[in-house]
Amino acid sequence: MMIQENISLKSFTTFGIDKKAKFFTRISTLTELKSALIAAKEKQLPVLILGGGSNILLTQDVEGLVIKLEIKGIQVVKEDKNHLWIEVGAGEVWHELVMHCIAQSWAGLENLSLIPGTVGASPMQNIGAYGVEIKDLFDSLQAMHRETLEMHYFDAEACQFGYRESVFKQSLKDQFVITSVRFRLSKTPKFHLEYGAIREVLQANGVQHPSLRDVSEAVIQIRQSKLPDPKEIGNAGSFFKNPTIPTTQFDTLKASYPSIPGYPSAEGVKVAAGWLIEQAGWKGKRVGEVGVHAKQALVLVNYGGGTGEEIKKLSEQIQASVFAKFGIQLQAEVNFI
Ligand code: FAD
Ligand code: EPU
Repeated sequence: MMIQENISLKSFTTFGIDKKAKFFTRISTLTELKSALIAAKEKQLPVLILGGGSNILLTQDVEGLVIKLEIKGIQVVKEDKNHLWIEVGAGEVWHELVMHCIAQSWAGLENLSLIPGTVGASPMQNIGAYGVEIKDLFDSLQAMHRETLEMHYFDAEACQFGYRESVFKQSLKDQFVITSVRFRLSKTPKFHLEYGAIREVLQANGVQHPSLRDVSEAVIQIRQSKLPDPKEIGNAGSFFKNPTIPTTQFDTLKASYPSIPGYPSAEGVKVAAGWLIEQAGWKGKRVGEVGVHAKQALVLVNYGGGTGEEIKKLSEQIQASVFAKFGIQLQAEVNFI
């Protein structure tokens, strides 16, 4: 394990923000992870665990040790007539895992195609797209405690998954490093085509009896039509969560704004934050080097030279104007550093 000093993090997060790590290391084994955590403890350095950096906004330099997880490996660990269980290293790239599963005809992850980032970060916010969340395929995970260095096992219940939430963002925040994740996949596909434009795109592509690959390609096509490619424009996907509001508040808003999109849930009505931001006049707006994406108002972007502070300020202005117009408080999905 090699620890480097004063490393620019510009290419390590998808926002492309030019902040520095005082110390930086890449680890690919549990032994290296242990050594890195021990080294940080000895020097009393705060630790930042980094995967693909696709859900992080750097607003300051990291005055501690950044540990970039590169633990690899995809293994089938169990099988029965209908399912198979795979164990995947935290440093595997999420989209490459999805492509690997499709190539093996292992079903379940296809709607989650093209989500950036790593496997180890996927349980952090229970990543989701197009009607599927990882909690639907999740079996368990292994994680190292950052203080005791002991390995712990978490099943789905222990992870307390919710919409873009898990115990690792709440009561166990900054306590564990997820080192591997086990998923339960199906040998026969059960397609989820009801969400968004998947069916329309399959039809437009002339697909009548879709394969896993057809569904994946449709999802990729939809995503590419609205989400900016971080290689071209810095971003972290949806900047805010879609808020859930009480049904009574939704009904009142609906009377004034008949086109407001809402999806009933157990706690009330989930409202499309992108719509709220667009209605508040922000879609496509540029403020210097940062702005709101022209094709998807829920995505804040860095055109190149923007800073984390500028994006944070823009996000606060958006929150204030959405609150003033609709009485709804938007909550960030992105992790601020
Ligand atoms: P990072 O950004 O590196 O880390 C995120 C957080 O997790 C940080 O707090 C970090 O410290 C912590 N962390 C990372 N790895 C570990 C680990 N192994 N153990 C403990 N803590 C860890 N998300 C969705 O849910 N659905 C989408 O459809 C979606 N679309 C996106 C589209 C674009 C263009 C972009 C840029 C992002 C999108 N995202 C989406 C958000 C992002 O891809 C996910 O949150 C992803 O899981 C982040 O993975 P990462 O490895 O990049 O995590
Ligand atoms: N909308 C607008 N204007 C906009 C954007 C959206 O009016 O500029 C409205 C439209 O009515 C649209 C609805 O919002 O029908 C939903 O938009 P979209 O289908 O693009 O999805 P989203 O709710 O904005 C969520 C996730 C995405 C995920 C997609 C697909 C959150 C916070 N975001 O976005 O996840 O890929 O659904 O499932 O839940 C992410 O988490 O980073 C992310 C990209």
